[in-house]
Amino acid sequence: MFDIAKLPKSIADRIGSLPWRRDDMGCSGSTILLFEKMALKIEKIGRAPENERKLLYWLDGKLPVPKVIEAEIQDGISYLLMSRLTGEMACSGDSLRNIGDTVRALANGLKMLWRIDISNCPCSNVVSEKLVQAKHRMENGLVDRNDFNPETFTTEGFKDVPDLYDYLDRNRPREDFVFSHGDFCLPNVFVSGRGVTGFLDWGNGGIADRWQDIALCVRSLQYNYMEYAGYGKEDYRKYKALLFEELGIEPDEEKIRYYILLDELF
Ligand SMILES: Nc1ncnc2c1ncn2[C@@H]1O[C@H](COP(=O)(O)OP(=O)(O)OP(=O)(O)O)[C@@H](O)[C@H]1O
Ligand SMILES: [Mg+2]
Repeated sequence: MFDIAKLPKSIADRIGSLPWRRDDMGCSGSTILLFEKMALKIEKIGRAPENERKLLYWLDGKLPVPKVIEAEIQDGISYLLMSRLTGEMACSGDSLRNIGDTVRALANGLKMLWRIDISNCPCSNVVSEKLVQAKHRMENGLVDRNDFNPETFTTEGFKDVPDLYDYLDRNRPREDFVFSHGDFCLPNVFVSGRGVTGFLDWGNGGIADRWQDIALCVRSLQYNYMEYAGYGKEDYRKYKALLFEELGIEPDEEKIRYYILLDELF
């Protein structure tokens, strides 16, 4: 998909012969080139890049997000040249070593999102809309069973993908609408100490239930902290408790489970 020689002219003019390296963090089929002060995201056109552009413009001045430098579409490919965030991903080695501060930063990040006024938000990802998207993905073979958490089909006991979809459809939660990132996982949040320096990857952002972001934050904390950084269950429990203490709310395990299961279809 990516050919440096075939970039749209406006983008090529901006980057000239500046040195870059390819980022290999993302796993959603996009290509990211990192320059000293800019990042270029290249991906197939579709709902996510469209959503991301709308929100980057709308969020400018409201939250620390990359500034759009150039946005182009050429031959079915979206090119988004934006400023590069400072700070470190919340899953970087240093952030995981200082996990207490990072958890506090994540809680601060969630509260920053919840303070945004949603009355003229241009994007929505409420459950009814997510389920329409999920059904479309399922019927068009876009849901990959191999990407699922194995527990969904073992401990959780779902027979197959349509069985999971039916469950989610029949058990829609009561939603508490806030401004939501939509994929609030550690690689999408940049931190410095106890503060957030920026939020990335806005393809699924918009109005949604408060628990959408909390659920994926909890899942990402567990994954990055335990499976990736090798910490034990007790440590994870301690930091999950710290997250809720900082948020000032009690965990709603049913909603956390619902949104983690819903995310399996994306
Ligand atoms: N503006 C930016 N500033 C700094 N780093 C960036 C920027 N844009 C992207 N990156 C880096 O590239 C990674 C992937 O970017 P992004 O999350 O937007 O892509 P994606 O393909 O949608 O990823 P995902 O796998 O989360 O779907 C980020 O985690 C970050 O490390
Ligand atoms: Mg990402």
